[in-house]
Amino acid sequence: MPFISFEGLDGSGKSTLIKNLKAHLEGAGLKVVVTREPGGTPLAEDLRGLILRTEHEAPVAATEILLYEASRAQHVAKVIQPALREGRWVLCDRFSESTVAFQCFARGVNRPEVEWLNRFAEQGTRPEAVVLLDLSVEASRLRQTGRQDQGGQSRDRIENEADEFHNRVRNGFLAQAKAEPERWIVLDAELSQDQLLQVLLAALKKRFAHEGFPG
Ligand code: TMP
Repeated sequence: MPFISFEGLDGSGKSTLIKNLKAHLEGAGLKVVVTREPGGTPLAEDLRGLILRTEHEAPVAATEILLYEASRAQHVAKVIQPALREGRWVLCDRFSESTVAFQCFARGVNRPEVEWLNRFAEQGTRPEAVVLLDLSVEASRLRQTGRQDQGGQSRDRIENEADEFHNRVRNGFLAQAKAEPERWIVLDAELSQDQLLQVLLAALKKRFAHEGFPG
């Protein structure tokens, strides 16, 4: 069954697009699991809390990566692989491509080592399609501020990083998409949610025609 991940800066609209795609797939009678990283299992959600908290000791870069990878290993084994075996479509908010963008491109950690850790945590399970909601850092910041004004959560440790960091994250996603165009679907996050869903459905239909993708 297809495994699709969603990437982008915070506030790029991943959650809404995932929700809308799930509704479309379920409307066509398919079984769908929506999940996220870091997190997705009770242990991995605990690790998420440790990674994103702003109080207490901050992890050094190596610890940060290992926590993301620990969350991923647990999530792949306990949620993603069983769901795929049961014939469910898996829609995942962030996956290994976030580690490359945030930890390699933005944080500056050695890429081959991170790629090795990604493969180790994935245990052979990688998304067939990676959907990138591309958004400028300025637009991402505006959306985050709008959310906080509406009583949303305050910024986590990664969101607190400088705009330069987030610009490198964005470039990291675009560089990965350019290197593997057959795997990535790049969408303009400034489109309306309705338009985003339509463009995404058209792209997925082409890629997953052999899996009985519903039109
Ligand atoms: P979220 O806010 O999209 O749920 O993701 C949590 C934060 O963690 C987000 O700022 C992106 C970041 N992140 C990494 O830095 N590396 C990773 O491997 C993953 C999965 C997320």
